[in-house]
Amino acid sequence: MTQAAALVHSRSALRPAIGVVLGSGLGTFADSLNSATRIPYAEIPGLPVSTAIGHKGELVLGKIGDTPVAVMSGRFHLYEGYSAQQVASGIRLFRALGIRRVVLTNAAGGINLEYATGALVLISDHINLQCANPLTGANDDRLGPRFPDMTEVYSSTLRIAARQTANELGIVLCEGVYAALPGPSYETPAEIRFLRIIGADLVGMSTATEAIAANHMGMEVLGISCVTNLAAGLSGKKLEHAEVLEIGLRVSGMFQELLTALLPRLA
Ligand code: HPA
Repeated sequence: MTQAAALVHSRSALRPAIGVVLGSGLGTFADSLNSATRIPYAEIPGLPVSTAIGHKGELVLGKIGDTPVAVMSGRFHLYEGYSAQQVASGIRLFRALGIRRVVLTNAAGGINLEYATGALVLISDHINLQCANPLTGANDDRLGPRFPDMTEVYSSTLRIAARQTANELGIVLCEGVYAALPGPSYETPAEIRFLRIIGADLVGMSTATEAIAANHMGMEVLGISCVTNLAAGLSGKKLEHAEVLEIGLRVSGMFQELLTALLPRLA
């Protein structure tokens, strides 16, 4: 990651303090940055190549107003066959670039019946059911402790800032617990009933691995889900990735507005 950071620094003079990971269908935010430098993941040592449809696969360094930010347009998923360590590699690169705060965004299925399609939800906590952890194996003590505390993976301070910003913009933000499953198959209705019983409000196939790695390295995490569909069995409709992307695109304006106002405050 030191090599990867050197490559990034050789391409851009920006030194962002904040990093963003864009989820399915939310990639348009990366196009709104000024003075942007785009680096395909394939050119960055130590990063795998992202293959999921709806994910671009480039690191973008650019500015929102005067605030430099680093944006992963496209993330790595376990269902693509990557290890949890590979999935977390972008976050490790963020840390090597000196970034201390990350915003993880994703598309998710809504389990909580109060969420409408298109709702934006602050992640208050997660339940990791992916049977994978980026910290498996020898611990690198330079990054963080062997047994990191996970009491507040999603910073309450950052959530308050997000809430204030959303209020000022008239954007409604819900809050909830994100269940991370390995995918790539969507859940069965029985699995969704199980997830509700164990306390999940949202379900998706990402984010937890990155959040664990970030927390391990002492980074502050803000998680935002876009509810692109009601979870399996709740709407009477079958789930389709195309619909997930379409709803992501439909809320991307609101989402962009929120991030544009919020990121300068977090930097
Ligand atoms: N389940 C899992 N992942 C998802 C969903 C879902 O319903 N919607 C978007 N990502």
